[in-house]
Amino acid sequence: MKVFIDTAKLDEIREACSWGIVDGVTTNPSLIKKAVDALKAKSENIEMEAHIKQICETVGEGKPVSLEVISLTRGKMIEEAEILYHKFNKIADNIVIKIPINTCNGEDTTSDYDGLKVISELGRKDIPVNVTLIMSSEQALLAAKAGAKYASPFAGRIDDYIRKNLDIKFEKQDYFDFCLMEAIGEQRFYERIEDTSHKPPQSVYLDQETKKCIDFAKDKGIGSGVGLVKSIIKIYRNFNIKTEVIAASIRNARQVKEMAEAGADIATIPFNVIREMIGHPKTAEGIKSFVADVVPEYSALFR
Ligand code: G3P
Repeated sequence: MKVFIDTAKLDEIREACSWGIVDGVTTNPSLIKKAVDALKAKSENIEMEAHIKQICETVGEGKPVSLEVISLTRGKMIEEAEILYHKFNKIADNIVIKIPINTCNGEDTTSDYDGLKVISELGRKDIPVNVTLIMSSEQALLAAKAGAKYASPFAGRIDDYIRKNLDIKFEKQDYFDFCLMEAIGEQRFYERIEDTSHKPPQSVYLDQETKKCIDFAKDKGIGSGVGLVKSIIKIYRNFNIKTEVIAASIRNARQVKEMAEAGADIATIPFNVIREMIGHPKTAEGIKSFVADVVPEYSALFR
């Protein structure tokens, strides 16, 4: 699995690149805002064009840097995609344009399909696209059909959505134990079925309480962000679809492991989560004992 860093902060990109583990960078308007705010807090100004050029150079030739458009209509998005691509791709030949799968804000549905139109149009212009804000397998299939190079399912936000619907309190970085949630759902379902065993199957099938047990903790049949990524990978493999899956909106190290197990092509990971991946108390304990056990005869080798 490739590791992208999900940030626009240059110091984080430089640091993670120095560890030799970065295969690419993803940004979005919120991450750009965070980078600008962090610099302002240090009374530093940002020169956006120079900043992005440095990101492209730091990550290096051919390692994708995703930059997102800011408009929500077809014509404007195409214009912005071309500006971003032509301004920055010459630096290190690594620009990918981020296009939302659907630019509608849930109220005015007139721009529902503009994202798809832009994805296919940019594909015809050979501008690589990373389709963002993917929250369902159905959206991921459409993104691939339209010619996306990358599809970014937002795993953490799906976990948030499921937990919020269940009224479960959580902090942003908390791990979502979807296996536990699944077990709770199954138990409820079997208890319910037992209660209704005397009823004809059609009435059990139509029973709203039974249905609630089956749909328990699910969003359109998807039980977690990891579940969403797994489903997309399965669909892409079924049809030999070349679009690469970027597991995005990653919140903790355990989620990264689950994305790798699921077979995600890429995980785009915030800097703090990449840092979290390195630690283990037994590694620290091991280091202490190795240092304590170094005998003078062995140290002499290095003099
Ligand atoms: O990669 C997408 C990411 O930046 C969104 O993350 O944590 O805001 O859901 P988050």
